[in-house]
Formats: sequence, structure tokens, C-alpha cells
Amino acid sequence: MAGVDRLSNNRQRNEASTVQAARATVTLREITDVNRADILRLAVAPEQTELVDGVASSLAEAAANPDASPWFRAIYADEIPVGFVMLADGVPPGHSEFGDRYYLWRLLIDAGHQRHGYGATALDLVVQYVRGRPGAVGLVTSAVPGCGSPIRFYERLGFHPTGTMHGDEHVLVLQLS
Ligand SMILES: CC(C)(COP(=O)(O)OP(=O)(O)OC[C@H]1O[C@@H](n2cnc3c(N)ncnc32)[C@H](O)[C@@H]1OP(=O)(O)O)[C@@H](O)C(=O)NCCC(=O)NCCS
Repeated sequence: MAGVDRLSNNRQRNEASTVQAARATVTLREITDVNRADILRLAVAPEQTELVDGVASSLAEAAANPDASPWFRAIYADEIPVGFVMLADGVPPGHSEFGDRYYLWRLLIDAGHQRHGYGATALDLVVQYVRGRPGAVGLVTSAVPGCGSPIRFYERLGFHPTGTMHGDEHVLVLQLS
């Protein structure tokens, strides 16, 4: 599948936490006191706010759910912040909300920076990261269907629908082994 080939090619040509997308180098960076305000300003388009929660509420969710092992990073294209990604990074078995050990909890690219390859490249980096984590056999996510849905985006990158739902969202998985 093209998505799997793309992930594999990216891994082969880059084992570090950076990947070249279009003309920019994409990196995942920690959110600190220095860049937090810039990251909080990132926003999807108004018609996309039904698809994904924003950075502020994601950080609040992370703080409220330490038992889900939240891991989050800002997405940069060269030195420009363009997005945000968050994982449940090694959920202990029996967790009340997260049944999957590695769950892509949030991914957003700012409206002004979409469709430049940054989302796909950031996801490549996240997949590289998860592959190095203990017991990682799959990366699970979920997405709402309908107009503007990112489900096709995930399918292009090798995710498959599992046929199950998480609330009103379709669950998808990328097999890692
Ligand atoms: C979905 C999102 C993360 C994709 O990031 P992006 O940087 O815009 O996407 P990319 O430029 O990396 O696109 C990669 C490929 O997916 C396609 N794609 C991107 N968004 C898509 C969408 N919503 N539907 C279908 N295809 C999409 C692109 O056309 C591209 O295809 P190509 O490789 O054949 O050219 C981003 O558009 C976004 O934040 N959207 C709003 C929030 C959202 O839906 N987040 C996901 C929540 S589960």
C-alpha cells in the first residue's frame, strides 16, 4: 500500500526526528514556556472545529489524564510552528477510557499551513517514535466521518478502519508489526 511504502521510505532515509516535507524540514518539539503562546495560537479552520479539539483543550485533557501517559509535541516546519500532536503513550492495561496502548489522541495542522505535507510528515515522525516504544504492535486513532473528515488522510498513510466506533468516531489502526 502506498501509505505503508511512504512511511517505510521515510524511515529508511531518516532515522532522526526530522523529515523533509516539501521545502521545509518538519520537527516535533517540546512545548515550553518559550513557545507555548505560539502553539496555543494555532487553530484549524472554523468549519473544522467539529473534527478536532484545539491545543488549549488538548493540554487541559493531558493534564487531567496523567494515567493515559499523554505525550505531546508542537509540529514545526523549519522554525515555524504549524501544528500539534498528542498521543496516549503506553496506556496501562485496563484503563477505563483508552483500551489501546498507543493511541493518536490529537493531530491538527493550523488552517494556514494545511495541505503542504506537514500532517503526513509529522505522522511519519510519530510512527517512528511509537515503533521504538515497548510492546508497540499498532497505533490506533479515531476520526469523525462526513464532510471534511480526515479518514481518507489516515487511510492514505496506511491506517485501516477496524469496523468499531469510539463514540461517534470511526476507529482506525496502523499495524506496526
Ligand atoms: C487532517 C490534517 C491533520 C492533515 O494535515 P495536512 O498537513 O493538511 O495534510 P498533508 O498535506 O500532509 O496531506 C497528506 C495527504 O493527505 C491528503 N489529505 C489531507 N487532508 C485530507 C482530508 N481531510 N481528506 C482527504 N485527504 C486529505 C492530502 O491531499 C495529501 O494527499 P497526497 O499525499 O496524495 O497529496 C489537517 O488537515 C488538519 O489538521 N485538519 C483539521 C483537523 C483534523 O481533522 N485533524 C484530525 C483529527 S482526527
